[in-house]
Amino acid sequence: MSQLVVMGNTSLKGEIKASGSKNSVLPILAATVMIEEPVVIKNVPELRDVQTMISILQQIGKTVSFENETVTVMPGEILVGNVPYELVKKMRASFNIIGPLAMICGWAKVGKPGGCNIGQRPVDFHLKGLEAFGFRITEEHGDVMAVIPNSFEKEIVYALPFPSVGATEQLMTTAALMEGSKITIENAAREPEISDLQNFLNACGAQIAGASTPTIKITGVRNLHGSEYSVIPDRIETGTYLLGTIATKGDVKIHGTRSDHLISLLSILEEMGAGIEKGQDYLHAFWKGPLKPVRISSEPYPGFPTDLQPIITAVLATVEGTSVIEENVFENRFGYVDELNRMGARIKVSSSHANICGVDKLSGAEVVAPDIRAGAALVIAGLAADGETIINNVTHLFRGYERFQEKLRTLGAKITFYPDEE
Ligand code: EPZ
Repeated sequence: MSQLVVMGNTSLKGEIKASGSKNSVLPILAATVMIEEPVVIKNVPELRDVQTMISILQQIGKTVSFENETVTVMPGEILVGNVPYELVKKMRASFNIIGPLAMICGWAKVGKPGGCNIGQRPVDFHLKGLEAFGFRITEEHGDVMAVIPNSFEKEIVYALPFPSVGATEQLMTTAALMEGSKITIENAAREPEISDLQNFLNACGAQIAGASTPTIKITGVRNLHGSEYSVIPDRIETGTYLLGTIATKGDVKIHGTRSDHLISLLSILEEMGAGIEKGQDYLHAFWKGPLKPVRISSEPYPGFPTDLQPIITAVLATVEGTSVIEENVFENRFGYVDELNRMGARIKVSSSHANICGVDKLSGAEVVAPDIRAGAALVIAGLAADGETIINNVTHLFRGYERFQEKLRTLGAKITFYPDEE
């Protein structure tokens, strides 16, 4: 298993630049399936998940190049309608291909994603939405088959049971090409990545309005043209480094960020007594003295982001007093708590709540990273702890954090990566 060895008692200090948003690039790349002209996407982070999505596009017939943070997607001669499970199981977001691919090929067959360490993660909202659009959906041998109808209803309204990010993106993208139809998605997710996707699709000639609100309206058009688009910075990466700075009593400035995408985190950090300076396009975090315990509930945007829940828990583990974290998005996102407790944290989990009783200091230990964000939480805990922490299964990290080791070393971290034995 790949390992990251982290030396403790390190304060993160210095300046880094935010990377482009992974969770913006992935749905935008999925949408390029529907565009028969060249598309240029800039500010793309070099991540395994981006590579996976690129290989899926190549597999179905697109010609894709990726250099200097720029992905160019050229139309392919033929597009095939199926995406094998071995690619879908590597990354759940690849399921967002099924609607766009069906719109182009008339049908699409995509492996149904499995669960992961943070929950079952079904795709029923995606499928019910496509059925509401008139698609015929069948499932067999672990694959989902979607077939478009001969014609679409003129007016379609679909209310999501929960503001699912992926389902909102899938349905908004698919609806863009439903020519002659007016589609309303209610109870839509409001994340900044949804607005980024809307802006990209409209730059390609789509007619979509309402992203960032619970109601998104789409007027289907005949086709989409090529465009050049630069994605937003990664708010979860930025939040991770801000929290790492505070956990290690450091002082870090992150350039190329959007503080308006992190309002809930920034207000919690200020409530905790952390030093925060918001610039036009940078955020500066610094240690001001002992932090205060807080109560946090993770919620769909604009609430506190579930992806930062493991990471702020690692910070609160050494904040005097009792903090409480409630996880309201995923049903199983406290898997990392046992690992933090191995490092001396005193955290009790009961159903969707974690009660954190702050201790003076964590101590380095050998731990296992269950997913991307929990992995980052364990790295941050290791930087602040006494002694050395060995984190196993760290390849998750490279799916979500561009140049993770390089950025941490720039900020003074002493870390060594031991790849999987081949
Ligand atoms: C996106 O996942 C992000 N991934 C996740 O980030 C993020 O944690 C999540 O949104 C919530 O913000 C990408 O954007 C690639 P959801 P997604 O659909 O779309 C349930 C990371 O580390 N649900 O909003 O899969 C689901 O089980 C990742 O970057 C259904 O029940 O999340 C969950 O409990 C982790 N049926 C809740 O809704 C469905 O059809 C929210 O899921 C879809 C979702």
